[in-house]
Amino acid sequence: MIGLYYSDEVVEEVRARNDIVDVIGSYVNLKHKGNSYTACCPFHHEKTPSFHVSRERQMYHCFGCGVGGNVYTFLMEHENMSFPEAVESLAERAGVSLPERAMSKDERKKEDERSRIKEMNKIAAGYFHYLLKTEHGKNALEYLTKRGLTEETITKFGLGYSDKYSDDLYKYLKSKGYNDEEMLKAGLIKVDEKYGASDRFWNRVMYPIIDPNNRVIGFGGRVMGDGTPKYINSQDTPVFDKSRNLYGLNLAKKSKRKGIIFCEGYMDVISMHQAGFDNAVASLGTALTVGQVNLIKRYTDRVYLAYDSDDAGTKAALRALSIMREFELPARVISLKPYKDPDELIQTEGTQEFEKRIEEAISGIMFEIGKLEEGFDQNDPQERTEFQKEAAKCLSKIMDPLERNNYIDSVSEKYGIDKASLKEAVTAFGVSKAGIIDNSVFKQQERRGSPQEEKEKQNLKSERVLITWLINDESLIPKVCLYLQPEDFFDEVYRDVVKMIYEQYNTNSKVEPAVIMNHYHSMEEHEKVASIMQQDFGVEIDEVERSQAVTDLVKRIKRKSIQKQLEGAGTDLMLIKRLMDEKKAIEKIIINVS
Ligand code: UTP
Ligand code: MN
Repeated sequence: MIGLYYSDEVVEEVRARNDIVDVIGSYVNLKHKGNSYTACCPFHHEKTPSFHVSRERQMYHCFGCGVGGNVYTFLMEHENMSFPEAVESLAERAGVSLPERAMSKDERKKEDERSRIKEMNKIAAGYFHYLLKTEHGKNALEYLTKRGLTEETITKFGLGYSDKYSDDLYKYLKSKGYNDEEMLKAGLIKVDEKYGASDRFWNRVMYPIIDPNNRVIGFGGRVMGDGTPKYINSQDTPVFDKSRNLYGLNLAKKSKRKGIIFCEGYMDVISMHQAGFDNAVASLGTALTVGQVNLIKRYTDRVYLAYDSDDAGTKAALRALSIMREFELPARVISLKPYKDPDELIQTEGTQEFEKRIEEAISGIMFEIGKLEEGFDQNDPQERTEFQKEAAKCLSKIMDPLERNNYIDSVSEKYGIDKASLKEAVTAFGVSKAGIIDNSVFKQQERRGSPQEEKEKQNLKSERVLITWLINDESLIPKVCLYLQPEDFFDEVYRDVVKMIYEQYNTNSKVEPAVIMNHYHSMEEHEKVASIMQQDFGVEIDEVERSQAVTDLVKRIKRKSIQKQLEGAGTDLMLIKRLMDEKKAIEKIIINVS
């Protein structure tokens, strides 16, 4: 928990005056159903609604992707607002006037820094765009025009030019009142001990990177001609996280076209939009990331890859496909051959040809197997067998049995492999383990911890589950608090949550999860706390089972807590004795739940 910008009372007043159903309902089409409101989740793509908003609890939760929280969490997550921004926006909505922000120095600094960086980026983008249209930007404009971009496109993407003097932007921002430190943080300048400050981008064509909320978060800059490096990109800054943004998404999210097309380059995106394919996006100078895949899942379940047709592009496409498969976002691959990239194809062949290529796009699996085939000599029986084995391995990664069978059919047909043998080979690879890809990126994420770490995880899970029970059934609180104090919880956040639950129960005889959420101000904490506040366990169990489960959880948490205290008891014999007694006593408890 970080310190507060606004007092608890103010935060709570603003929250209470903004009904969550009304607020979320203004962004999402909610349907009234029983005692909750449902919709298709705005945070991941789905066809059947699993996103629930409860008026009674003033909380939302998605059973599909697990997000949840109170009205503040929603704005933070959906509108990318910081906590104080969410408070301010809701205060305005409900006509509550806020007192002067009572925030700590650190917080004010961080918050101001972020908004100043955004402001600065906007000013810089405006300045670059302005320069492009002056005498200074003549060459740059000519360069872009020669590459086939219209004035309309240049304006739409806010393209610009950074002047050839290496401190031009620096001076300009200085004149607008920004200091070296913040320009450095924004990634707009470099500072050299000997030579002082200079622009990070100079004499380049500038591509502002704009997030889905239309804020300029960073830049890419291209040399005009053949110099190196071809592109320079902003580094990550307090407002720019390359792994969670996509170039062009601000426009693509409004597209009426079906799906999203991923390509590799800024120029590809621009060229495609100009040709009418306004659903194109690109990564920001890095390979595709897990964060980007999850981001795009909010917008679509149909993805095309239009990566460069050279070796590097193919490799990048294969890598992207495996990430997408891991996160259940099936992709189709667009062939650009014989052209190098979408830009080249569109410039030479035009829109219709590209439209045709989209229609002819093949599934990721068929693309992978096609690439595999190229690596083996099909006339050599040995190599042919190896190819077939590899193909079977690839097919074994398909989770859905029907889909898998269909692909087995297609592959056996296309490559003349005996269907029954192929099927057998696929099964031999162990379909059950499908999806866990032979790729170090995921190995790391999937890796199990040491036995010690696993145990810690289990303990945290007990704490989490018990808190969920307490929130869902207040009658448990007086029973559980006989045995467990907040201090018995190992996790700091959980400890605070339990403390608040007890306090709320003691004063009001009820628990209000939405009020507890108020105390957390970062997205990370909101995610963590919201995840213990979901309602449904997905199973109905009877009294006996419930009693048993709660008793077990309490015992487990208490044992762990006593163990910790024993470890810290040193030579205090009295304390050790007391703890040993407690340890014995806890084994005997039975909590009866009605
Ligand atoms: P490309 O070299 O294919 O660039 O790199 P491009 O966008 O097609 O540009 P043109 O058409 O040659 O002008 C693809 C992407 O890789 C990143 C950029 O994001 C680029 O758009 N990249 C490339 C860099 O970040 N730095 C580089 O030096 C080169
Ligand atoms: Mn390219």
